[in-house]
Amino acid sequence: MFRPDGSPAVSSFTPEDWHILAGFWYPVGFSAEVGSRPVAGRLLDVPLVLYRTGGGITVAADYCPHRGTKMTLGRLQGGEIVCKYHGLRFDGAGTCTHIPGSPDMTPPRRLDLVTFPVMERYGLVWTCLKGASDQPIPEWPELVDPAWQRIKMDAVWETGAGRHLENFCDTAHFSFAHAGTFGWPDRPEVKPYGVEETATGLRFELMTPQQDGSLFQGQPNFADLLSEYDVYLPFTARLILHFPRGDEHIFDIVAPLSAGRSRIFMLKARDHDLDQPVDEWIDFQKTVNEEDRAMVESQVPAALPLDAKAEGHLPSDRFSIAYRRRLQGLGLTGGAS
Ligand code: FES
Ligand SMILES: [Fe+2]
Repeated sequence: MFRPDGSPAVSSFTPEDWHILAGFWYPVGFSAEVGSRPVAGRLLDVPLVLYRTGGGITVAADYCPHRGTKMTLGRLQGGEIVCKYHGLRFDGAGTCTHIPGSPDMTPPRRLDLVTFPVMERYGLVWTCLKGASDQPIPEWPELVDPAWQRIKMDAVWETGAGRHLENFCDTAHFSFAHAGTFGWPDRPEVKPYGVEETATGLRFELMTPQQDGSLFQGQPNFADLLSEYDVYLPFTARLILHFPRGDEHIFDIVAPLSAGRSRIFMLKARDHDLDQPVDEWIDFQKTVNEEDRAMVESQVPAALPLDAKAEGHLPSDRFSIAYRRRLQGLGLTGGAS
């Protein structure tokens, strides 16, 4: 399942890209979905099992070291995960504790699960396949502040993580792809804007003409919104929308499942309209996301091309050009093997 260097034996990434991307934290599930049964996850072509014991949540390779069976087929019992094939048991550290067919045998460490570090933040389970990262999970106080209202959602898209992130930060498509929701068809112009380099990625802000999505009551209520984008390399962004009635923050946290497939974790927080039902808020965002999905899943290639000559660029692509350059700066090539 793994090469000696820790990368998966079968991968859609080049080995170099895999090692660079594996050095970051990504969410692999919601804390609340990890309960009485093992849960499947995936990251960078590594199938994962998430399970909960008295010690908290464990993230391990979905692979029994005895005969390679998927641990997600197993069950939880007595605070341990039990493989469905021969019943080997593993504790929260992934240590093999019992071999039913040889009950007197002390399990060799060769039979321990391959585990990865776990952080629970913002209702998400995060892991880092390299075991450590130079980049911590960002601090986002609005995702823990009780004065803010929050929603969360996820979806799997047939696209590379960079493509999704770039779409999230692209405002030139609003008047077209989002004409059915918040986009303003008669105002497609994107005024020049600057992109700033930060320690963790990129930052830019601009005014975006759009329907006021915080109201979404169907009335033609249009506004020029100050929109602030913070991008955290490689595939996370926070968008701050300054609506007339208050702020809304949207987090696009993209976990690369493979080079052309991504799980999108989207968190939203707002400091206004707290008495409004969240169902409408969720439905509105899902509609917007599906408008994007139709465009993004059709893009060829699915993995974001980093070579500046690979696609044509416009003045409104200033962020995209800077983003691709920063990804290259990490050493990524963007190519799939
Ligand atoms: S394959 Fe898991 S116990 Fe044998
Ligand atoms: Fe969009």
